[in-house]
Amino acid sequence: MDAAALRSALLAWYDVQARTLPWRVGPHERAPGVKPDPYRVWLSEVMLQQTTVPHAAPYFLEFTHRWPTVSDLAAAPDAEVMAAWAGLGYYARARNLLACARAVAAEHGGVFPDTEAGLLALPGVGPYTAAAVAAIAFDRPANVVDGNVERVTARLFAVEEPLPAAKPQLKALAGGLVRDGRPGDWAQALMDLGAVICKPKTPLCERCPVAAHCAALRTGAPEAYPRRSAK
Ligand code: ADE
Repeated sequence: MDAAALRSALLAWYDVQARTLPWRVGPHERAPGVKPDPYRVWLSEVMLQQTTVPHAAPYFLEFTHRWPTVSDLAAAPDAEVMAAWAGLGYYARARNLLACARAVAAEHGGVFPDTEAGLLALPGVGPYTAAAVAAIAFDRPANVVDGNVERVTARLFAVEEPLPAAKPQLKALAGGLVRDGRPGDWAQALMDLGAVICKPKTPLCERCPVAAHCAALRTGAPEAYPRRSAK
């Protein structure tokens, strides 16, 4: 695996093909050092653990319109936030969301901690969210692994171990590709690749910027990865 070549091919693709999403810095604002608002990154990541990008987007716009900062959200009555969350499902997440917003407002002066460990210490913030916010909002070289990244990694390395047992191995392999350079873009490039090209059933390998680096493609059946244990 030529990690440097793989990384530059995927980041070059992302520079051109990144999806324009409401929580991202827009294509015309993008520049080295321009970072998205941590509140918006955190909110989007919590919503996206619950649902898909198209379903989450209107909720994200509604929340950020009504509560433009984490301190605004922290001050909102529980019932209003719960009502705004309706349709996203799983209310425990909305309760965690409020608990986290209130901790950031009350204990951190409305400013999100800028390290993975600091984020992880917030109520309701698990390892995935901490890594995602650290990478995307603060450009920390965190290893951000969701289902998309697991699938992409399983294919790049043709991991034979089935899910879910393969999770630690996939996380380690994904971590081996993280560098100090552009970690937020790297995390989101993997997510976009997984969503747009490296799809679960019908990967579009002829359009894949990293096909030359993909061990699963060389087996002739990339869609057969990740392997899954027989139910
Ligand atoms: N899924 C979860 N987080 C995401 C992000 N930041 N961009 C695109 N898809 C995502």
